[in-house]
Amino acid sequence: MKCLRFGARGVMTDRHGLNEKRLAELVPELAAARREVLADADQWAAGTPVPEEKRPLDAGFIDLPDRLLTDFQKDKENSQVGQIMAKADWVAQEFDRVVLLGIGGSYMGARAIFEALCHPYHNELSRARRNNRPRFYFEGNNVDNDSLAGLLDLLEQEAPQPSANRRWMIVVISKSGGTLETAVAFRILLRQLANECGGDPAEIAQRIVPITGPDGRLHNLSEALGCPDVFRIPDGVGGRFSVLAPVGLFPAATMGLDIIQLLDGASAMNRHFRTADPETNCVLQFVGVSHWMEKEGHCPIRILSTWGKRLEAVGLWYDQLLAESLGKEERGATPLTIVNTRDLHSRGQQHQDGRRDKLITNLVVEESNRKPLSVGVSEHDQDALNALADKTLPDILNAAFAGTNQAYWDVDRPTADLILPKLDAFWLGQLFQMLMLATVVEGRLIKINPYGQPGVEMYKRNMNAILRGESSWQPKSPG
Ligand code: PA5
Repeated sequence: MKCLRFGARGVMTDRHGLNEKRLAELVPELAAARREVLADADQWAAGTPVPEEKRPLDAGFIDLPDRLLTDFQKDKENSQVGQIMAKADWVAQEFDRVVLLGIGGSYMGARAIFEALCHPYHNELSRARRNNRPRFYFEGNNVDNDSLAGLLDLLEQEAPQPSANRRWMIVVISKSGGTLETAVAFRILLRQLANECGGDPAEIAQRIVPITGPDGRLHNLSEALGCPDVFRIPDGVGGRFSVLAPVGLFPAATMGLDIIQLLDGASAMNRHFRTADPETNCVLQFVGVSHWMEKEGHCPIRILSTWGKRLEAVGLWYDQLLAESLGKEERGATPLTIVNTRDLHSRGQQHQDGRRDKLITNLVVEESNRKPLSVGVSEHDQDALNALADKTLPDILNAAFAGTNQAYWDVDRPTADLILPKLDAFWLGQLFQMLMLATVVEGRLIKINPYGQPGVEMYKRNMNAILRGESSWQPKSPG
């Protein structure tokens, strides 16, 4: 089975105290955590009442890729994946701009997919060079007046009579349906859309694809607007675990990406997770090393060090996944994504010489998708690059990677490696599923429920009370 690789040679040094034997001692606990995660998935699938101490239990994401693929094989047209593909192709044909509204788990996966797999200048390319796929904009993930006003400017310039393939539409994503940032952006954009459609309810409804839970305000609003297709986020699949539900799949299909490959990758990771021995299981090894380094190696900060530019949004998606899942009860490691070589010039100093509180996990793609660019010979050799004329950008990135890890090794800075052979839908699907599984395994290992985010609810409650004049709280004056 083709599987991404995890290695931790850069952690196994005398200074850190971790070695094969110590990692092996963790195996019984890791195996128990895996059993618990798989039992959670079975419990969820059986639909039997969830015991109090397990609530909330959003284990529906685990088997989701396999379920979606099986349903698709049985009935290509009527399965959820088939319907997603058909609607995505229709949207791509009809519209040139998609405004995707959502926050947290309701947009970070789609953004990660967009940045990792679409052309880096997708929105700037001609429609033909975008394979007739729309441009994408992400909003509803903040309440920044000038940003949203800027987007309205952009959309407005094509009104009032845009030609068919210059029109825009909205994909609005919220599982609860009540998230204020997304709801407010939706209302404001809906007003602009309604103006542009001359108030025609059928035309307005055609230009909105809601993705939401089975009930809630967005669900009700979608019904009232008469949106012809509403994709449902399945029960038991929480926001940050929903990238392989319609939340990520519909945007990906609209971008023209192969969502079957995304699901195949995730399904391959599920097989590996279920069947590989703990000693060779990349999910369990990743958890074991990260956990040991936090607990015994005093490294509560986990740097995900991505190499090249295209995995930054994947890293931010993972930051959210880990922080919201395990940052509870005054515990949980602190994740931080960096992008190299860019951030070697901003954070490299600290990682080399600063506090010894970090585990650095390199996220590396082995092979570029495009033909390697070489430095080449120039008659102006003032930059002294002719000596490197035959080197390519991948050669230089590899040298930076090796040089950085050598520098860390020389001063005993712990590094691990997560290696993707290529950056495509299959490998990205594996990576998403691996990191989601690792997060819930670690939660079970350290006895923190990885599902739910009770802490986030507090700011939402307060913000709503302040806005509705129901709060008497005043910020403390300085001093
Ligand atoms: O992981 C989560 O559950 C959160 O990050 C949510 O995705 C985020 O708060 C948005 O919630 P909703 O989809 O209900 O608007």
